[in-house]
Amino acid sequence: MAAAVKVVPFSTPIFLLVYLSTTVAASSVGHEIHRGFSVAHDTSYSQFQPLLADPTGVFSLGFLRGGDGGSSLLDLAVLHLPSSTALWRATLARPLRWRADVSLSFNGSLVLSDSERGIIWSTPAVDAGERLVLLDSSNLQVQKLAAGGAVVVLWESFNFPADTLVQGQNFTSAAVVKSLDQSFSMRVAESYVALYMEFPGGVPPVIYWKHAAMEAKAEIVAGGGAIYARVGEGFLGMYQTDSAPVDVLPFSSFNRGIRGLRRLTLESDGNLRAYYWNGTIWVRDLEAIADRCEIPASCGAYGLCGNSGGCRCLDDAREEEGGCLPAASGDFCDAANNEFGILRRKGVDLAHKELAAREKVASLEECEGSCEQNCSCWGAIYNNASGYCYWLDFPIQSLMEADQKAATATDGESEWDGGRASAGALQRPQFSFVSINRALVNSQIALVLTIIT
Ligand SMILES: *[C@@H]1O[C@H](CO)[C@@H](O)[C@H](O)[C@H]1NC(C)=O
Ligand SMILES: *[C@@H]1O[C@H](CO)[C@@H](O)[C@H](O)[C@H]1NC(C)=O
Ligand SMILES: *[C@@H]1O[C@H](CO)[C@@H](O)[C@H](O)[C@H]1NC(C)=O
Ligand SMILES: *[C@@H]1O[C@H](CO)[C@@H](O)[C@H](O)[C@H]1NC(C)=O
Ligand SMILES: *[C@@H]1O[C@H](CO)[C@@H](O)[C@H](O)[C@H]1NC(C)=O
Repeated sequence: MAAAVKVVPFSTPIFLLVYLSTTVAASSVGHEIHRGFSVAHDTSYSQFQPLLADPTGVFSLGFLRGGDGGSSLLDLAVLHLPSSTALWRATLARPLRWRADVSLSFNGSLVLSDSERGIIWSTPAVDAGERLVLLDSSNLQVQKLAAGGAVVVLWESFNFPADTLVQGQNFTSAAVVKSLDQSFSMRVAESYVALYMEFPGGVPPVIYWKHAAMEAKAEIVAGGGAIYARVGEGFLGMYQTDSAPVDVLPFSSFNRGIRGLRRLTLESDGNLRAYYWNGTIWVRDLEAIADRCEIPASCGAYGLCGNSGGCRCLDDAREEEGGCLPAASGDFCDAANNEFGILRRKGVDLAHKELAAREKVASLEECEGSCEQNCSCWGAIYNNASGYCYWLDFPIQSLMEADQKAATATDGESEWDGGRASAGALQRPQFSFVSINRALVNSQIALVLTIIT
């Protein structure tokens, strides 16, 4: 195995480490916001300006400095105060600068606006709320009181997660969890929870991890309602009705009687991790993807995740030559930008290929040709042992040295796809081969890759 010529540092989970301004005491802010409320952003708070407290003083809604764009940006967030961890963030139409003239008001809807650009975010104005409260679960709610004093919830942050779910928060197919940098998402479908790569430019999300309800245990009733997921005491449960989960993904703290706030976060490296708060630190009790090469962008665009732990470039470029080919942003279906070149490489395999689109074809030439002729194909991998051709209909990443999975390369026979056993699938790939098609789009090099294993 060739030595790694380029090592891209493995991105570590991004923890938001902010320090609350000492001028802030959570108790100085109220527990309810009523119609007519308006507050301006005060930049004398260095990191977090609290606006609303929960009854226990553990959580606070406020203006938070930080976010993916660095410390110059402002988010509207619900913070877990002991750890300064944002559990929820409003999804803003445009990034807001920390220094901007921002205000938050409540007129029945919660409205975040910027003096220059107007409304940046608001809750929907379907029905006017009477008050805004932050529950002791960290759920932010717009409520009104019905006749008889019953509380009607008009909007709640639990239905609009950012990168995190907390214990007790129902995660339905109507919601999407996205990593802070928006590169990865988590969704719940009929019988599974899955992680996806997100791409700009209309490329559909691409699945890279899936936890399916185990067929043997599942009691999913056809027509019995949609599946939703929820973090419980040391597990992620999938439910159809609240009485019992149809599936449980246990964390390492499962059944150990550990109490403490729990969260499940889709971190910016694309891994899904669960934690509980032990009173001092967040203790991690789940890391969904253990193998670094199975994390889709662990070696970046056109990188190759190596057996020895390092990253290389598909085109064998080196760091001193500017690193691997740049991430592509082109659209090969745009007739003006459909020129491409080809790179082929042996010894390449696709991570999470059991989830990839594939078909048996007669030959390597047919596999490559089918990709070349389809403008939504960025590359393909051919396994001449199994005869499978895999199409990569997304900008190229997630590639690894073929040996990495040779011992377990099953071409994706798994419990959820009901795939046929393929003779020879366990055989070590004998021959492999890659091609890259390249176009110059908006001064960026966009590429299509055909890989044959
Ligand atoms: C609250 O203010 C926003 C922004 O000015 C406006 O669009 C919305 O209609 C108002 N809602 C109510 C209930 O007055
Ligand atoms: C989650 O869904 C269940 C079942 O519909 C419901 O009883 C429970 O109140 C929901 N929890 C929250 C926090 O909305
Ligand atoms: C939380 O975990 C840390 C690190 O293991 C430990 O030092 C600390 O004592 C724990 N806190 C509590 C309250 O158990
Ligand atoms: C091109 O590839 C896309 C994505 O894999 C697929 O949906 C489509 O059917 C293909 N088109 C043709 C003409 O093969
Ligand atoms: C795969 O290709 C290699 C190299 O051409 C060849 O030696 C091997 O026999 C092929 N394997 C199968 C199963 O066709």
